[in-house]
Amino acid sequence: MQRGWKLYRLGVLISGRGSNFKSIEEHIKCGYIKNAKIVVVISNKEDVKGLAIAKENNIDALFVDPKGLTREDYDKNIIEILNRYSVDFVILAGFMRVLSDHFIDSFKNRILNIHPALLPSFKGLHAQKQAIEAGVKFSGATVHFVTKDLDSGPIIAQSVVPVFDGDDEDTLSDRILKTEHKIYPLAIKLLCDNRLELENNRVKIKDYETMDENFYIINPKEDFKED
Ligand code: GAR
Repeated sequence: MQRGWKLYRLGVLISGRGSNFKSIEEHIKCGYIKNAKIVVVISNKEDVKGLAIAKENNIDALFVDPKGLTREDYDKNIIEILNRYSVDFVILAGFMRVLSDHFIDSFKNRILNIHPALLPSFKGLHAQKQAIEAGVKFSGATVHFVTKDLDSGPIIAQSVVPVFDGDDEDTLSDRILKTEHKIYPLAIKLLCDNRLELENNRVKIKDYETMDENFYIINPKEDFKED
């Protein structure tokens, strides 16, 4: 995964609110992520907030209707758009569709996803509800490379939050989401700085010991503070 310096072109896939997309865009704008640009945002749902945020930021925002299409045909449409925009990396940010094998092959090791649980626990839908029902005391979020097995690719970054007795799906989701907004930009920064190496299905961060204060450290005092 050795690449020279370049401005990496990101295509972001969403299905709704787009708060992770917004956080990534803000981290690009403020210079935290230096060599990346979001060139297109695609949603499988019409009129969602994430598309409006893209438009406000002068990013091309496309609704691609899945109605009447097989998974393969829908994904072919998305691949065609991503290639038209010369996308280097595909960023799944709350995209609530399973990708076809053809899609994953088309962007091998170039698709990232964020999942609201500490993978490999609680894969699939309603991860936060699954965590509460399992009675775990900690949960969190995971950014990983996408492979053909659902929510199972090599892990890039994780955040941890406590699960409190009084939590329901919404309160736990909110607490996890705040950390998602930090670890997704961190993972993308590392990716675009060519600092991620894949070895035996594990992700190694190059020069880990040189990570400076510009990298987020998940600080329990700050991150777990309740508003
Ligand atoms: C996030 O919590 C993300 O982790 C989750 O959807 C939410 C999207 O929020 N993704 C999944 O559950 C994927 N399996 P956002 O639209 O505000 O970024």
